Amino acid sequence: MKHWQIENDAHGYCWLTLNRADSSTNTLGAEVLEEFDSCLTNFSKELPKGLVIKSGKKNGFIAGADISEFLELSTEEEAYQEIRKVQKIFDKLAALPIPTVAMINGFCLGGGLELSLACKYRVALDDPKTKIGLPEVMLGVQPGWGGSVRLPHVIGSMKALSLILPGKVLDARKAAKIGIVDAAVPLRHFQHAVEHYLQQEPTTRDCGIWERFVQLAPMRAILAYYMRKQLRKKVNPWHYPAPYAVLDTWIKNSAWSKDAYKAEAKSIAKLMVTPTARNLVRLFFLRDRLKGFSKGHDFAPRHVHVIGAGVMGGDIAAWCALRGFKVTLQDQNIEAISATFTRTLKLFTKKLKVPYLINAAKDRLVPDPTGIGVRQADVIIEAIIEDPVAKQQLFASLEQQAKPEAILATNTSTIPLDVIGQGLQRPERIVGIHFFNPVPLMQLVEVVSSPNTDQMVLNNALAFVGKIDKLPLPVQSCPGFLVNRVLVPYMLEAAQMYAEGVPGIKIDKAATDFGMLMGPIELMDVVGIDICMHAAEGVGATVPEFFKSWVEEGKLGKKSGKGFYNYDSRGKRLKVSVDNDKPVPADITDRLIMRLVNEAAACLREGVVADADLIDAGLVFGAGFAPFRGGPMTFIASLEKKQIKENFATLSKKYGERFNADPVWDGG
Ligand code: NAI
Repeated sequence: MKHWQIENDAHGYCWLTLNRADSSTNTLGAEVLEEFDSCLTNFSKELPKGLVIKSGKKNGFIAGADISEFLELSTEEEAYQEIRKVQKIFDKLAALPIPTVAMINGFCLGGGLELSLACKYRVALDDPKTKIGLPEVMLGVQPGWGGSVRLPHVIGSMKALSLILPGKVLDARKAAKIGIVDAAVPLRHFQHAVEHYLQQEPTTRDCGIWERFVQLAPMRAILAYYMRKQLRKKVNPWHYPAPYAVLDTWIKNSAWSKDAYKAEAKSIAKLMVTPTARNLVRLFFLRDRLKGFSKGHDFAPRHVHVIGAGVMGGDIAAWCALRGFKVTLQDQNIEAISATFTRTLKLFTKKLKVPYLINAAKDRLVPDPTGIGVRQADVIIEAIIEDPVAKQQLFASLEQQAKPEAILATNTSTIPLDVIGQGLQRPERIVGIHFFNPVPLMQLVEVVSSPNTDQMVLNNALAFVGKIDKLPLPVQSCPGFLVNRVLVPYMLEAAQMYAEGVPGIKIDKAATDFGMLMGPIELMDVVGIDICMHAAEGVGATVPEFFKSWVEEGKLGKKSGKGFYNYDSRGKRLKVSVDNDKPVPADITDRLIMRLVNEAAACLREGVVADADLIDAGLVFGAGFAPFRGGPMTFIASLEKKQIKENFATLSKKYGERFNADPVWDGG
C-alpha cells in the first residue's frame, strides 16, 4: 500500500500506520480511504486480536478530509454518494468485533476525529500540539462522516452540539475531561496506555439518563429552540447556514435514529455546494498560499530588536517573545517600555497559562533603552512615530550599527520605503513589515517592498513573518499599501454618512448585515480617530472637518472613551438610543461596499499585489471583509459587469465623482 503500513506484533495485535505519501500532513483523500477500506476488508479473512490506528507523521494524527477533493464535487447528489461511501467504511471499522484504538498525537480534526470515533477507544498524547475537534462549520459545512452521530453517542448530544456548532477544538486534557478521548497521557506512557486498552478492554462510558431524555422528539425541539436563539446572537443563518443545518438534522433525527447517518450525509451534501462553503474552502487554500510565501527561504533569525515601545512596537515585541524569539525593546521614553511590560504579562498569561512558560517568555523580552541589541539582532523592526525625518535619521544610525545581513524593517503605515531609505548607503536593505492593530489578534502582516528592495531581504522578511505565525502578504510600496488604502474610502464614506445625519449604529448594522466582521463606525473608534485621520492623509484623501476638531478635543475613539460611540472605563461600548421610526437611506451598503471594491480594483490595476486572490486574502484576513463572500474581488465577480457599471453610475450621479467607476470595469 502507498499510504498505510501494517505491522502485526507478537501478541496478535495489528498496528496500522497512516503515513500519507507525497504530503507532510495526513489527510483523508479518496486513495487513502480506499486503501483503508481494503485493510478492513482483509480483516474479515484474518482478524487480528486488536487494532491500533496511528500516524506516521510527527505533526499529527489526521488533519481531516482532503479538502481539495471537495471542489471536485459539483452536485448535491454526487456529494451525497461520496459521503455515504466513507460513512460505510467507518461503519466497517466500528463493527469490528475486536478492541480498536486510535492513538492520537497532534491534530485530530474533522474526518480524523470521525475515524477515531468509529474506534472503540481513543488515547491522546498530552502535548500542547494535540488538537481534537470537529471544526467543519468553519468551512461552511458540517461533520459528514458520522461525526455528528457518533460524538453524541460518546459524550452525549448536548456536549457534542456545544462543540460542533461553534467548531470548537480542544487540547488533549480537555478532550479527556469531556470524554471524547478515553485518556490523555504523556509521551512516556503513550504506548502502554494504548496496550492497556487493547488488552483490558475496559467498559466504555455511558452518556447517562439525560441522553435518553433528549431522544424524545419534544425534548429535542425545546432544547433546539434555545440553542438556535443563542446561535442567532452570534451567527447570521443567511451567511453561515452550517450550524443551523446541524441543529435541524439533530431535531429531525436525533443521533440515535436509524436514519441518522443518511440524514447527516444529506445535510452536508446540500451545504457542500453552497457559495458559502465554496468561498470558505477557497479562503482555506488562500491562507495556505500566504503561508507558502514564508517557506523555502534559508533564514533562521533568533534575535529581534524593536524600536518604539508604543501601541504597535510594544505588541510586536511581545508577540515575537511569545513565539520564542529573544527580543530587545528600545524606546527613547523609558515609561513606554515599562508600560509595555505590564501589558505583555497579560498576553503571556492568556496565551501560555503555565507559569514556567510565562516566565520563560518574560525572560526572552529584554528592556533596552539605549539600543544595545541593535548590533546583535537578526531582525530590526522600527515602530516609532509616523514621521519621515525621524525614521530617516533612525535608519541612518541603524545602518551603521546593525549586522550586514540583519533585516531593517519599518512598520510604517503610509510612508513609502524609498522615502525612508533616502540617504542610506544601501537603501535596498529596507523592507516594510506592516502589522495590524491589535497585533495579537490580526493574522495578516503586509510585507512591503519597492522596486529597489533586495530580493533576499524581501525573502527573509517573508520567512520571518511565517516564523512568528502570521500570514505574510507581499505588497508593493504605495500610500496605504493594500489594506489601509482599500479601507480608507470605505471608512470615509461611513464618516460622510454620519456627517449627513445617518446614525452610526445603522451604518454599522448595514455593514455587518452584509457580512463585515465589524462595522466601519466601530472600526474607526477601535483604530482611533487620529490614526484614521493620518491614514486618510497618507493616501491623499480628503479628511472630514469633524475628524480634525475631534482630534484636537482628544475625542479619539475607544482609547479616549469617546468617539462615534461612548465607552466606559473598561472600554465597553455604552448603549446607543436610536429612533427606529426614522427612515434610513436604502443605499448605505451600496455606498460603503462600492467604494471599497472600486479601490480594491484600482489596487489590482496598479499591481499593488500580484492578483485578485491576494486582494481577497488581504481584505478578509487583514480587515474582516465578509469571509462567506470570499473577499471583495470574488464578491464583485458574482455581479454582472453591466450591473456594476450601473451601480457606479447611479451613485456618482447622486453623490459625485468619488463614485466614478475605476477604469478596470471598462476592460474585458
Ligand atoms: P505610538 O505613538 O504609540 O508609539 C511610538 C513610540 O515611539 C513612542 O513610545 C515614542 O516614545 C517612541 N519613539 C519616537 N521616536 C523615537 C526614536 N527616535 N527612538 C526611539 N523611540 C522613539 O505609535 P504607534 O501607534 O505604535 O505607531 C508606530 C508606527 O506603527 C507608526 O509608524 C505607525 O504608522 C505604525 N502603525 C500604527 C498602527 C496603529 O494602529 N497605531 C497600525 C500599523 C502601523
